[in-house]
Amino acid sequence: MMVMDHQQELLQFYWMIKMKALVVKPGSKGVYLKDIDLITENKIKVKTLYNGICGTDREIVNNKLPFVRPENGEYLILGHEALGQVIDAPENSKFKLGDFVAPMVRRPGNCMLCKIGRQDYCIDGNFAEAGIRGKDGFMREYFYEDENFLIPVEKEIGELGALIEPTKNVMKMVEVFQSLKNRIIWDCDDSTLNCKGAWIFGTGSEGVLSSLVFKSIGFNVTIVNRHPLPENVLKILDKNGLKFFDSSSKNWKEALEENPMDLAIDAAGSADIFIQVIDHINYNGIVILFGTSGTGSISDGSFITKIVDKNLSIAGVEDGSKKNYIDAAKFLFEYGSKYSINDIITSRIKPEETWIFNEKPKDEIKTIIDWNL
Ligand code: BGC
Ligand code: ZN
Repeated sequence: MMVMDHQQELLQFYWMIKMKALVVKPGSKGVYLKDIDLITENKIKVKTLYNGICGTDREIVNNKLPFVRPENGEYLILGHEALGQVIDAPENSKFKLGDFVAPMVRRPGNCMLCKIGRQDYCIDGNFAEAGIRGKDGFMREYFYEDENFLIPVEKEIGELGALIEPTKNVMKMVEVFQSLKNRIIWDCDDSTLNCKGAWIFGTGSEGVLSSLVFKSIGFNVTIVNRHPLPENVLKILDKNGLKFFDSSSKNWKEALEENPMDLAIDAAGSADIFIQVIDHINYNGIVILFGTSGTGSISDGSFITKIVDKNLSIAGVEDGSKKNYIDAAKFLFEYGSKYSINDIITSRIKPEETWIFNEKPKDEIKTIIDWNL
């Protein structure tokens, strides 16, 4: 009888796949397209179609995020925004060959909230995040996944499926907004939100997606940045009736007369924007902070008095639950053509074009990697 070595033995129960993957070495700068062997359990096998690239990926590549850590060894496979297609699934699984799926980023630890599917509210930090901390990500040709962390996606959604992950963050903002709003009667006197203004600070993909989602629930939306916007971004705003306010050149008073600030969403993370928001927001306003790379400082304590005096609610929001991903997929499917959401995808690149992590194209809203290019 032939004696099997350890690897042959393993391969009887596990599959080994050779593939290309974009990897980083936590603790140092750089990103590489590497050939990797993957021996993994026989779960659902997914072929990656698209990955979105966001600020988090660029910060990881430039060694600016302190919490990045590999799953095994010294390399981490990058990528937390993905759309894939099932190419192999065990019998009795919820998915079948050909299904489109979007994987979830954050995986539960052992705390009470992680156990009830709300790892986005984890209380002890013992979670993992694919492509970010403690779990390999999805910028690779294939990945295996537990079906509980895959979101079913309508095939017709196409490349918009790459936006499900960033949109789930917005869906969590909506959830937080709804619960803060419910502390008093906040709606307009015809039961809608059409007398209310939402101001979104930041015009990147998270800012533009937030503007569209909050418009869809009835707000008048103003999107803000402190510099003029490229033509393609202005076009999307125009097409969808979103007002743009260039805070470096225009007069706040005028812009606030046009659209009052009842809800503020900050995707930029700068202290001076926060101070401006507290100054300009209406009584009973709601402030949602989302940007994770906070900058600047707040030295004047009088803004605390304003927060109290105006009865403001301020919430930090990070990540999202499975329900938020499902709502995101639904939103993109339903509003994709009405809001021309495809225009948010401003470039499609090949996996080997790693310069993209160091150079942001001038008109970029969202760049995606297309594994079929
Ligand atoms: C992801 C979140 C994640 C956060 C911090 C964001 O880019 O969308 O899911 O929790 O980064 O790691
Ligand atoms: Zn992201």
